[in-house]
Amino acid sequence: MVVAELKNIGKIYGKGEASTEALRGIELKIEKGDFWAIIGPSGSGKSTLLNILGCIDVPTSGEYFLNGQLVNKFTNSQLSAARNETISFIFQYFALLNEYTVYENIMLPLNCRKISVREKKQLVNYYMKRLGIEGLSKKKPTQISGGQQQRVAIARALVTKPDIILADEPTGAV
Ligand SMILES: Nc1ncnc2c1ncn2[C@@H]1O[C@H](COP(=O)(O)OP(=O)(O)OP(=O)(O)O)[C@@H](O)[C@H]1O
Ligand SMILES: [Mg+2]
Repeated sequence: MVVAELKNIGKIYGKGEASTEALRGIELKIEKGDFWAIIGPSGSGKSTLLNILGCIDVPTSGEYFLNGQLVNKFTNSQLSAARNETISFIFQYFALLNEYTVYENIMLPLNCRKISVREKKQLVNYYMKRLGIEGLSKKKPTQISGGQQQRVAIARALVTKPDIILADEPTGAV
């Protein structure tokens, strides 16, 4: 089953002389269960491609199909739903909310879900255990190490059981 398909995707940032062509003619078909690594030098467009796949940014040309639906035509609420339900993003710098605890950060994507609080708590606890961070639940992101922050971000990405997990520079953490 094809989860995501890119057809002739292009991305140009800006206009005129100051513009940058970040992507040209990208063709990509991601099947359920696939594991992909996108490699290339700095500035080659890896983050741009991930942002488009993650429905955080839109391409300037080409078509993006997510579970068979044309993302180019998505409304804002459809894009939000895709980001909450279908795709999870692990950002390069994790993007944890510093004013919330580790536990609350992982719970965040479940807040708007129509499942019981008990079920939500079970999911958060399960993924905290899986990632070996169950002892950190009451800490704030600024009170834990970089590797621990990364595992909190991974738990937050997994807790919604998404179809696609996108990780920008997953092995780049020092
Ligand atoms: N918001 C933006 N506005 C204008 N140009 C941008 C923007 N974001 C990226 N670019 C340009 O687009 C190109 C691709 O950038 P991108 O961030 O996708 O590269 P990358 O492969 O992720 O690089 P790195 O390995 O350094 O993270 C670069 O030339 C960059 O300068
Ligand atoms: Mg990048």
